[in-house]
Amino acid sequence: MTRWYQEKKRDHYYKEAKKQGYRARSSFKLIQINNRYRVLKKGGTFIDLGASPGGWSQVAARYGKVVAVDLLPMQPLDNVIFIQGDITKEETIEKIKGHVSEVDAVISDASPNISGNYTMDQARSVWICENALKIAEEFLKGGGNFVCKIFEGEDYPSFLNKVRQKFRMVKPHAPKASRKKSSEIYIVAKGYIKER
Ligand SMILES: C[S@@+](CC[C@H](N)C(=O)[O-])C[C@H]1O[C@@H](n2cnc3c(N)ncnc32)[C@H](O)[C@@H]1O
Repeated sequence: MTRWYQEKKRDHYYKEAKKQGYRARSSFKLIQINNRYRVLKKGGTFIDLGASPGGWSQVAARYGKVVAVDLLPMQPLDNVIFIQGDITKEETIEKIKGHVSEVDAVISDASPNISGNYTMDQARSVWICENALKIAEEFLKGGGNFVCKIFEGEDYPSFLNKVRQKFRMVKPHAPKASRKKSSEIYIVAKGYIKER
């Protein structure tokens, strides 16, 4: 994909997001993932990790109740409970427990601040995903779904394998609305295999 085309596409989703009242163009990524894989079901309860400014939460809240978590603050949204906290910290998990015990899907668009050192950024992205998976294992109902953004690289295959062992169907997905062809990919996992 040429740079020119990437810019055009980015601009297109930015304008569409404004027009349709979404807080971020990333809303379209979740819409595309959900149109294809049906990860959000009507009447469900969901945890949205790395939720600010709220584009994914806006989409998920149309299906059911959302508990959203981010390091950064987020403006209130209907049907969304917001927790400001670090998803890698136990205290944040305890706060989530204060609102939900079991959920139908855990979705994570969390990503580290980009340092420019790809090896480091990739490792941080995988660390965030490890923690998102931990939260998924803690809260998902049997049969529940998990979506997680990850930067491709050295640690990606082993993380993907780990997810494969815990879900019935796992697909790496690059949504059309992603900014670049590059490194960003979403792992879409359905049918959590609950051991307990
Ligand atoms: C791409 S943005 C998310 C956009 C959001 N999904 C939306 O549609 O509006 C990534 C977010 O991940 C958050 N984040 C990164 N590391 C985090 C962590 N350890 N705990 C909680 N949030 C984190 C960042 O603060 C940032 O807001």
